[in-house]
Amino acid sequence: MTSTTDLGQSWDPNTLQSRYDEVRAYTETLAAPLSPEDQTVQSMPDVSPTKWHRAHVTWFFETFVLADNEPAFTPFQDKYWFLFNSYYEGIGPRYSRPDRGLISRPGAHDVGVYRSNVDDRMRDLLATLDEGTLSKLASTIELGFHHEQQHQELLLMDIKHVLSRNPLQPAYAGSPTETAQSDALGWVEVDGGLVEVGHEGDGFCFDNELPRHEQWLRPFRIADRLVTNGEWLEFMADGGYRRHEFWLSDGWARIQAEGWQAPFYWTETDGVWFEHTLHGTWPVNPGVPVSHVSFYEAEAYASWAGKRLPSEAEWEHAARVSTGSTTEKVSGNLANTTSWHPEPAIPATGGLRQMFGDCWEWTSSAYHPYPGFRPPAGAIGEYNGKFMSNQMVLRGGCALTPAGHARATYRNFFPHASRWALSGVRLADDGAAA
Ligand SMILES: [Fe+2]
Repeated sequence: MTSTTDLGQSWDPNTLQSRYDEVRAYTETLAAPLSPEDQTVQSMPDVSPTKWHRAHVTWFFETFVLADNEPAFTPFQDKYWFLFNSYYEGIGPRYSRPDRGLISRPGAHDVGVYRSNVDDRMRDLLATLDEGTLSKLASTIELGFHHEQQHQELLLMDIKHVLSRNPLQPAYAGSPTETAQSDALGWVEVDGGLVEVGHEGDGFCFDNELPRHEQWLRPFRIADRLVTNGEWLEFMADGGYRRHEFWLSDGWARIQAEGWQAPFYWTETDGVWFEHTLHGTWPVNPGVPVSHVSFYEAEAYASWAGKRLPSEAEWEHAARVSTGSTTEKVSGNLANTTSWHPEPAIPATGGLRQMFGDCWEWTSSAYHPYPGFRPPAGAIGEYNGKFMSNQMVLRGGCALTPAGHARATYRNFFPHASRWALSGVRLADDGAAA
């Protein structure tokens, strides 16, 4: 994994230690409302139990930092490398992903003991490493922070699905926003031309955001907010899920096979649509961005609306020119708001709203390597590069993304039919001069 961080200037042991403590503590904060029973359930193969997330991010530090650098390294538990390896072929065989919910031991408390043990060893290591070794290790440790933040988001997405399967309709935390109506959709005109996309500067990025490179864009328009539930209800009322003409062939086949009639967490009772959220199950709020729709549904909606999805280069360029976005300036309805759900857009400003937070936004771009991309050598090179097939790029972060983990160049990715992620829709259109 590549970081452009200037290690010598950005990371001294104390800064690294305090950042480590901060990231690790936030995972436990997010897990705190969940009982050991909550933390054990795996409700479908894409979902991992909460305690597995807590253990896996710990395994990451133990495997990629402690194993090669701790004097007289001994793993906390001999078989944890097998249980908590996610997908790293270079590390070795691992436990079957769809069966993670069958593991009752270690329990949630035992995972806490594992976390504390690794935390103590990481603190000892950071306190004793010489400057040269620390400089070499800092980028891997920093990757561990961002890896854990990714899993913090996944922990929330996954427990949302776990709780959705419970007829008691339990809540994770919080309460819904007041019922709202959206304002009229506005458009922001963006000049085309030769633009640069990809990460630049001293801050952290994942390897898939590099190399920064040039792309040619035709002039385009991009919607000033996300598509709302109210607008999605209009799509449904117009036969959106019944009219083949809006759908890609693969998407049409999927909705036939699986009987999709609405977004993933919507259910209809006596003619009223309800939505499962981390606050529990509530009537669909028309002013809130639609969420938990697949790429296929996003694309069909855009087709119905006579528009299209933005490419990832269009999205990134628009974010930069409209919001002046840098990692430091990114703000929005992210996890630090503790809304745990998309919220209505602020009143129109003439600029782009909801670019960061609320919902990950499907783009029309397949997840492919940027020109010149080379994954790092070794098992850590499996982090992103090997997933660059059969997935689409999403941008912007969501209401479950930790603050500091969203940026204009961040490339998230999911398969076309994924719906359990907190994904939504922003429209685009060709510009007047195109
Ligand atoms: Fe992971």
